Amino acid sequence: AAPTVHQAEASTVSQGVVESNHAGFTGTGFVNYHNVTGSYAEFTVTAAAAGPTTLTFRFANGTTANRPMDIRVNGALAADDLAFSPTGAWSTWKTASTTATLAAGTNRIRATAVAATGGPNLDSLTVGGPTAGATPAA
Ligand code: GCU
Repeated sequence: AAPTVHQAEASTVSQGVVESNHAGFTGTGFVNYHNVTGSYAEFTVTAAAAGPTTLTFRFANGTTANRPMDIRVNGALAADDLAFSPTGAWSTWKTASTTATLAAGTNRIRATAVAATGGPNLDSLTVGGPTAGATPAA
């Protein structure tokens, strides 16, 4: 299936706020996680079939330190301490990816800040596209 882009500003946010004061985001804004452990954004994603897929998070981290997040799919840990490394500026956006197995139908994909500094600024989640490590079709 073609990749689907899910905007963070449309996600369910706990301990964060939607903002638009740093350029370069897609959609209408991004989620600024509060600087606390446990802050999260949760996306509701529909998959046509069960199976592994790539989760790609677009984010900015204008600090000099990693802001790791745990990625959970339907409550199960899919990526432990996924790195959201410094991007150089709050207006410089990069991606962090992991693979996860989705269920057929509705899935809850939650990105939860692990460190007391909270998460990065999160722009979007793209589901699908090339699986990390896979060999592209010729
Ligand atoms: C700055 C920046 C915010 C960011 C915050 C943080 O205040 O303007 O967009 O979220 O730092 O450290 O999380």
